[in-house]
Amino acid sequence: MQSFTYWNPTKLIFGKNQLEQLKNEVPQYGKKVLLVYGGGSIKKNGLYDQVVSLLKEINVEWFELAGVEPNPRISTVRKGVEICKNEGIDFLLAVGGGSVIDCTKAIAAGAKYDGDAWDLVNKKAFAKEALPFGTVLTLAATGSEMNAGSVITNWETNEKYGWGSPAVFPKFSILDPTNTFTVPKDQTIYGIVDMMSHVFEQYFHQVENTPLQDRMCESVLTTVMEVAPKLIEDLENYDYRETILYNGTIALNGMLQMGYRGDWASHNIEHAVSAVYDIPHAGGLAILFPNWMKHNLNENPARFKQLAVRVFGVDAAGKTDEEVALEGIEKLREFWSSLGAPTRLADYDIDDSKLQLMVDRAMANGDFGNFKKLNHEDVTAILKASL
Ligand code: NZQ
Ligand code: ZN
Repeated sequence: MQSFTYWNPTKLIFGKNQLEQLKNEVPQYGKKVLLVYGGGSIKKNGLYDQVVSLLKEINVEWFELAGVEPNPRISTVRKGVEICKNEGIDFLLAVGGGSVIDCTKAIAAGAKYDGDAWDLVNKKAFAKEALPFGTVLTLAATGSEMNAGSVITNWETNEKYGWGSPAVFPKFSILDPTNTFTVPKDQTIYGIVDMMSHVFEQYFHQVENTPLQDRMCESVLTTVMEVAPKLIEDLENYDYRETILYNGTIALNGMLQMGYRGDWASHNIEHAVSAVYDIPHAGGLAILFPNWMKHNLNENPARFKQLAVRVFGVDAAGKTDEEVALEGIEKLREFWSSLGAPTRLADYDIDDSKLQLMVDRAMANGDFGNFKKLNHEDVTAILKASL
């Protein structure tokens, strides 16, 4: 293992009927609140009314930023920053999925920064401080509810970057599985692919002696794979929603990544694809990740073999490590397909006409990936295999 310091200050409030906790939490941080939400799902399912009635009970003044897009845009972040600065907002409340939370993080940091918030996303500046914010999560996927990362898109320049700062850990996150009941089947599938991909990003590293971390990653994967097929046939099953919601948080709150750095190359390539084509993040991952795996198999076949045997139940008897690894990757592809995830970029009508732009966007900060550094040729090959 490598040396590490683990720090995660987010208070996680998990379970049925926990929304009421807003009454204890919000007043600790302020009296003027910016409520941030997406395209209207929370109005349709009644969550908006519940949140607003609790805000009324605790007598806070609140403003609203509605319409945060999936793949949230810097233009929306700028609107939020303006409200914060003009109205003297002292607390933000994100109610939604990863996009709403990521957007809130950028607004919270942008409100404490003198320049344009895009500087924080493209790393021209570092977010040293941020307004405090809390979240009410409505979709199990990104882990943004308990981490300090955020992904923002600049649609004018076709750029989508992840950024982060310890200043943007949520103060608290309320996770009630019931609030995920209305997530449609396709978004539920994307969430499952995303959380599994987060585990893969962390599983593929080259650091020796991480047996507990390996087993923890494998446990998250096998648990998700056991429950996911049942959940997509029974979307309002509390137990299945609960299990998937908890897995999504554990997959990316830092717990799995102690003692090594994950790879994160597939995410970087996917962000380049969805910066150019605005496709769902995990739709892109379902297509790209198995091709990243095949491309990098020979960097450490034993690690791929371990995954294939322990998670995908591949029988290794009489086979080379490479054969076992390939069988495991095929089983992953089959599993995601069986849920209904896409397998090729063509499923989103993406051809090779903007391949170069996607490669350029992925390479914006030079070679990347910790399991294997990918260069221009590697990225081109992975994208071509994904067409
Ligand atoms: O906008 P509304 O109307 O709320 O609808 C959303 C949206 O259309 C809908 N939805 C959410 N909760 C719902 C619901 N519909 C019905 N009932 C509910 N309870 O689902 C759609 C997708 O929402 P979104 O927030 O975009 O999904 P997700 O949570 O998957 O977030 C995706 C974004 O997170 C970034 C991705 O790149 C993408 O921009 N990521 C953020 C990460 C992080 N901060 O750590 C890591 C991830 O790897 C990822 O890159
Ligand atoms: Zn992701």
